[in-house]
Amino acid sequence: MALRSIRTNDDPVLRKTSRDVEDFGLRTQMLIDDMFDTMYDAEGVGLAAVQVGILKKIIVIDTGEAGEKLVLINPEIIRTEGEQHTQEGCLSLPGRAAICNRPQKVTVKALDRSGNPYEITGEGLLAKAFCHEIDHLYGVLYIDKVEEWVQR
Ligand code: NI
Repeated sequence: MALRSIRTNDDPVLRKTSRDVEDFGLRTQMLIDDMFDTMYDAEGVGLAAVQVGILKKIIVIDTGEAGEKLVLINPEIIRTEGEQHTQEGCLSLPGRAAICNRPQKVTVKALDRSGNPYEITGEGLLAKAFCHEIDHLYGVLYIDKVEEWVQR
């Protein structure tokens, strides 16, 4: 198990745009494993590579609902439906939470950790996680979209 340090708050890397992944070799596989370890250790449900300082379009998600460890590489949202106004936080912005508007249902196309394309549809928490983590790949944070801050 290898933990990487999570970049937080005003770290400028969090505002940068990540690059497409073209290499699915050992280095990428190790990064993905480390991202899962880091996310579980921090008790998060999603993590983007930029949050550990690597500007690559890699996301890991485990909401505990789907019962699977999702890896999304070079992801793109291809369909959305409805909206939800629910609480959101971020491992890179500790101690804060806010209500944001996100679609209720989101379909994403991405590559898996071997580079094979797939599509996945998520609702509720999973849909929110897709949107939140994909935003990270473009330097966007949920604090850019707050409807209402939540006192903690
Ligand atoms: Ni986040």
